[in-house]
This record gives sequence, C-alpha cells and structure tokens, in this order.
Amino acid sequence: MSDNVVIICYIIAAILFILSLGGLSNQESARRGNWFGIIGMLLALVAVTASKEVTAYGLLAISIFPAVVIGGFLAARVKMTEMPELVAILHSFVGAAAVLVGLSLQQDSTAVHHAGIAGTIHNIEIFVGVCIGAITFTGSIVAFAKLRGSISGSPLLLPARHLLNLVIVVATIWLGMEFVSHGVIENPLVPLLIAMVLTGILGIHLVMAIGGADMPVVVSMLNSYSGWAAAAAGFMLGNNLLIIVGALVGSSGLILSLFMCRGMNRSLISVILGGFGTGDGGGGGAVQTPEGDITAIEAGATAQLLNEAKSVIIVPGYGMAVAQAQHTIATITKKLRANGTKVLFAIHPVAGRLPGHMNVLLAEANIPYDIVLELDEINADFASTDVVLVIGANDIVNPSALDDPNSPIAGMPVLEVWNAKDVIVMKRSMGTGYAGVQNPLFFNDNTSMLFGDAGENVDAILADM
Ligand code: TAP
Repeated sequence: MSDNVVIICYIIAAILFILSLGGLSNQESARRGNWFGIIGMLLALVAVTASKEVTAYGLLAISIFPAVVIGGFLAARVKMTEMPELVAILHSFVGAAAVLVGLSLQQDSTAVHHAGIAGTIHNIEIFVGVCIGAITFTGSIVAFAKLRGSISGSPLLLPARHLLNLVIVVATIWLGMEFVSHGVIENPLVPLLIAMVLTGILGIHLVMAIGGADMPVVVSMLNSYSGWAAAAAGFMLGNNLLIIVGALVGSSGLILSLFMCRGMNRSLISVILGGFGTGDGGGGGAVQTPEGDITAIEAGATAQLLNEAKSVIIVPGYGMAVAQAQHTIATITKKLRANGTKVLFAIHPVAGRLPGHMNVLLAEANIPYDIVLELDEINADFASTDVVLVIGANDIVNPSALDDPNSPIAGMPVLEVWNAKDVIVMKRSMGTGYAGVQNPLFFNDNTSMLFGDAGENVDAILADM
C-alpha cells in the first residue's frame, strides 16, 4: 500500500474514532458509536499491516493469531460484573506495550539515530513513554487485583506517602536528564531501567493508597493514563494515528474522571496523587455503626404496595447486575405504567462496577430512556414518591455519606431514597456493599427489607402483581 493510501486510511480511521466517542456519549447512539470504533480499528490494522514499514509478516501472524483467539475467548466469556477487571487488565497491556516499545527503540542498533535537537526530543519521547507506560502497567495490575478481590480494597496508607511520591518524581526527573545528556551515568539504558522500576513502584503505590468506594475514579484515571501511554508510543514510533488515538483516549478518560470526581465529590488532584478515600472520611473519629430493628417484607406484600402506589422510583445497583433482574423489572415497569403508575429509574454515577453499568443493563431490557434519570435530576422527587424499590444497591443509597463525617464514603452525593413514603430494599443479607460500610437506611421505620436473590424476588413480585 502506498504511503498516501496509508495516510488516507489513518485520517478516515481517526474520524471514525472521533465519531465513535461522540456516539458512545449517548445511550441512543452508543451502538452506532461502537460500530464506528470497530470499523476504524479494522481499517487502522489493515493500513498498518499493509504499509511499507511492516515486512515481517510471519512474526506478525505468530503474535496476532494467539492474541485474537485469547482476546475473543475472554471477551465472549466475561460476565458483565467482571467488566471493570477486564478493562483494568487491558489498560495494563497498553502500559506494557509503551514500556516495551521504549526499551526496544533504545536498544535497536539498526534504528535511525537522530542528531542534535531531534535526537534529544526522540530520547525524551522514549523516557516519558517508558515512565507513563510503567505507571499505567503496575497501577492497572493493582486495580485489577483490587477489583477482583485478590488483594484488600482498603487503602494502604504509608506514613510519609506523599514524600515518597515526591522523592520518586524528583529522582525520575534527574534520571531523565541523565538519560538524555549522559552526565554521570554513561550507559543510557541504566537510568532508563531505574526510572522504569521507580515509576512502576509509583504506579503500585498510587493505586494501593485508594480506598474501595473511590476505585471508579481510579479506573477511569488509568484509562486516561493508558491513552497517554499509547500517544507516547505513537511519538516514539512516529505513528500519527497512534498519537491521535492515544490523545483521544487520554483526554476522554480525563473528562470521564472529572465527571466521576464530580459524582463522588472528590478532587481530581487527590486522585492523581493517591491516598484519598482513607477510611476515616477526614472526620478524625470512629465510623458510626447503625443499630435498631429492621422490618422484613415478603414479595406478595411488595407487589401489593406497588399496585397501590401512584408513583414508584426504581434504584438499581450492583446486585441487579449480579441477579440479571433487569428483564423482569422491565415487565414490572410496563405493567405499572399500564395501570397509570408513574415509574422512574434513578441512576447514581457510580452504581454497579463500571461507568454507565446500570444504563447498559436497562437499555438491554428496553426500558425507555426518558424515564431513566441521573442523581441530580431525580433526588428532589423522592419526597413526593410513594414507593422506592432499591434493587441490589447499597453504597449509593447510604445516608451516612451525608450524616457521618467519619464514613469512608463521607461527602459522596447519594440517592436520598429515605425521603419517600415507603422504601423496599432487595438484597440477600445485611452484608455491606463495595465500600464495606453498614447502611443506616436498612434500620429506618419506612424501610422494609426484601431478602433473597433479586432475580427470584422480582419474579415473585411479578407473579403476585
Ligand atoms: P454495592 O454498594 O456494591 O451494593 C450492592 C449490593 O447488592 C450488596 O450490598 C449486595 O448485598 C447486593 N447483592 C449482590 N448480589 C445480589 C443478588 N444476587 N440479589 C440481590 N442483592 C444482591 O453497589 P452499588 O450500590 O451499586 O454501589 C456501587 C459501589 O461500587 C460503590 O461503592 C462504587 O464506588 C463502587 N464501584 C463502582 C464502580 C463504577 S465505575 N460504577 C467501579 C468500582 C467500584 P447482599 O450481599 O446482602 O446481597
């Protein structure tokens, strides 16, 4: 393929990626956005493979075919609830790729050696690419292990953690200067490798310092880092499409992180520096433990309450994803609306385990978009609502986020479901949610607990309606 055709393919692919991101920002156009992305990526792969720069087709086939088989197998098998782990591990691959590209370019004796300022710029690209790649790689591995539950979700707070981060950053900058100027250390590989290890440790430390409920922001932040790592690899390889794609992923990940921070009432700087969500909520005292009696309810009585209600708000959470209860919920919604009941869905920005998790499930069950509202659009409506049905949600409806300054989720805006006339919480036990905090909502006079698997319970409610 001639260079001009490759450039045209790159431009079309870049446009498709931009259209893809635009499409993914809205539920109705998300499917189309996905297709733009798939076609753009296919075009990019074909153009790169057919370009003059690629000649080792045997080697390419050996590396691509197992990757396609393993990737396809994992993607087909992954459960929706395991998606964040998959995303985290994929980010780590981007980080590893940037590190490997940097190291191989540094070691490649056949590479064109740029002289003067061009050489310095090329070396800076390599150094920055390896460092961003290493942070992304190790940070994503820790995020993967935390999301999977292989290591504890509670924050690791070393005594002088900010000082440790600062020392690593300063040392990395010095090593970068050494790498470029060969001052004290003659072999440039040495400062590069030391910086790789140091920034790898920084990646581990930054994510280890983040507490359970704040992980969503970290995952989207690592998404952004993986974009910058890809852009850095693009600069190293002189590949314009990789630079564009990396910048798109990096900046959209950053925008998503800002949205998530707003949703969690956190500052982006504290996410980047690590060590927020410390488990003491900043209040300096002990976390309050809710006490009192709880009221249990059966599916039959729940069905009766729903039948009598004039207005119902459904709050889905992670448990609805586990129970796959969305399809029966859609049927219940249809039935209630046919009876003239006003039904709305309330979506918290961090409900479930990945951004937009609940929106995806509700769209899959064909719930109309116009009755699905965001936290700030619906919070005032709870006070005038007859029945709130909380399905497998916990942290996002926990009043201690507002009342208890010592709670790990203190300051996080929550869905104020307790203002409704009746609240029914569907879950299997009195167990805590992702953040590991007890929920005083369960002990309120107007709250009834419908225990059991949400899938079985919504089936029973539907049968009794
Ligand atoms: P959680 O607070 O995790 O609560 C989910 C509840 O669902 C659990 O208390 C569990 O109680 C219940 N449950 C699980 N399986 C169930 C089933 N089969 N049937 C009925 N109930 C079931 O979820 P949430 O309220 O959606 O809040 C999300 C949390 O995850 C937040 O802390 C958020 O920060 C965190 N997080 C979010 C993301 C993103 S991006 N959304 C990413 C990582 C972490 P039982 O065990 O008693 O049934």
